Amino acid sequence: MAHGSSDAPLSRRELLKAAGLASAAFAALPEVGAALPPPPRPVGASSMLGVPFTTHSTVRLAIVGTGLRGRSVLREFLAVDGVEITALCDNVPEKAERAAKMVTDAGRPRPALYTDGDTAFEQLVRRDDIDIVYTATPWDWHVPVCLAAMRAGKHAATEVPAAHSIEDCWALVHESERSRKHCLMMENCCYDFNEMLVDRMVKEGAFGDVLYAEAAYIHDLRGILFEDKDEGLWRRTPHTNRDGNFYPTHGLGPVAWFLDVHGGDRFDYLVSMSTPEAGLTDWRATHIPRDNPKWDETYRAGDINTSLVKTVRGKTVLLQHNVTLPTPYDRLNSVRGTKGVFKDYPARLYLEGQEGGHRFRPIDDAVKARYTHPLWQRIGDIARAKGGHGGMDYIMAFRLIETMREGLPPDFDVYDAAALSAPWPLSEASLALSSAPVRFPDFTRGAWDGPRRSR
Ligand SMILES: NC(=O)c1ccc[n+]([C@@H]2O[C@H](COP(=O)([O-])OP(=O)(O)OC[C@H]3O[C@@H](n4cnc5c(N)ncnc54)[C@H](O)[C@@H]3O)[C@@H](O)[C@H]2O)c1
Repeated sequence: MAHGSSDAPLSRRELLKAAGLASAAFAALPEVGAALPPPPRPVGASSMLGVPFTTHSTVRLAIVGTGLRGRSVLREFLAVDGVEITALCDNVPEKAERAAKMVTDAGRPRPALYTDGDTAFEQLVRRDDIDIVYTATPWDWHVPVCLAAMRAGKHAATEVPAAHSIEDCWALVHESERSRKHCLMMENCCYDFNEMLVDRMVKEGAFGDVLYAEAAYIHDLRGILFEDKDEGLWRRTPHTNRDGNFYPTHGLGPVAWFLDVHGGDRFDYLVSMSTPEAGLTDWRATHIPRDNPKWDETYRAGDINTSLVKTVRGKTVLLQHNVTLPTPYDRLNSVRGTKGVFKDYPARLYLEGQEGGHRFRPIDDAVKARYTHPLWQRIGDIARAKGGHGGMDYIMAFRLIETMREGLPPDFDVYDAAALSAPWPLSEASLALSSAPVRFPDFTRGAWDGPRRSR
């Protein structure tokens, strides 16, 4: 784990260290931060790009962290054919019990429970009736759980972001390549209706040559961050001791698909700026009694972090994070090319030559009929009826199980997990260097420039 829970301010050097980046690596750089050279691949390890799952007639799934998200994905997996829930783990026994009841209420056998402390997952991963361990713990535990799962010969799936230091990103890559087990960051927003429709439009050339995209997580979490339960117990901490884009993957995941990241392109470098902090301080002043211990905290993360990401092919991505100001929900989700543009929230489209002048048009029935993604055509109705977040969570769960049952390459791999999680530590490093460019490591070690065999 890369950072503790202390509220003490970090120096520039400590910030770079927290991000898993050696400050010496930046000292000699005239303008562009150099990534540390890729660490040597462990002996016997090899690339996991495009590696198919072995076929599974039934997928035996365990979930670590059965809080809000763990139980939400459990509900999705219970609705997908061909899944057995064999074990559950939470360091709060009542939470594991609530999840176990969901399984038995669905008429399934009671899963084994692991609730004895923070590292009970180490016992869970030793079982021989688990194919994949899904982690929905707080951020600090994603990497330890994934590493334990892969070391024990299980595939690992993790909630977002997979890691929050470059060091931990590499640890996941190394273990996946050594164990030959996949480490998948389950970015549900890649499976949302508009994102999949737009991805199909991109792949079919509707926007011409794609040059630019926008991605964001803009969500007013102030109430949640100050709760005395669930995410309020852990998600405020980084606001006290780190800065940067803590949650890049919901916006960047779909954009990475649009830009063929690790299938012909990859993220090269980013620059980052944060505004001052005012949102949490203001919320506390108006909502939290003065005798509450939360008044001992100092919030350091700027309210709006804005980064620009450049790809090796020269494409540009605007990437934003803002969870501490009043705002409607927005992931920006935009793409622009030589023949048109898509913008989301609300979804709208402009394609060269369309009728009506230089005005956006909605995603109407004609567009849906032409470009709805085959997965949404196939299971969209059931996804909308059964799935969370408008159906995308069901599609994500369905697709993971489909790839495992049919022996296909997964839609994500450990390189995606690392590259999509890296903007937090990299933006933090750029901020510490007065917004200097900071390079992404090439987690694929040069193998990003071929056609992608998954999806
Ligand atoms: N993809 C999405 O749409 C989405 C939505 C919400 C949350 N998330 C992600 O899901 C994860 C969990 O978020 P949440 O909202 O469920 O938080 P939560 O606090 O409700 O749940 C976390 C659970 O993990 C348990 N836990 C903590 N440490 C543990 C340990 N060492 N071993 C086992 N269990 C442990 C807690 O007791 C709690 O039940 C986070 O990574 C978050 O970013 C993703």
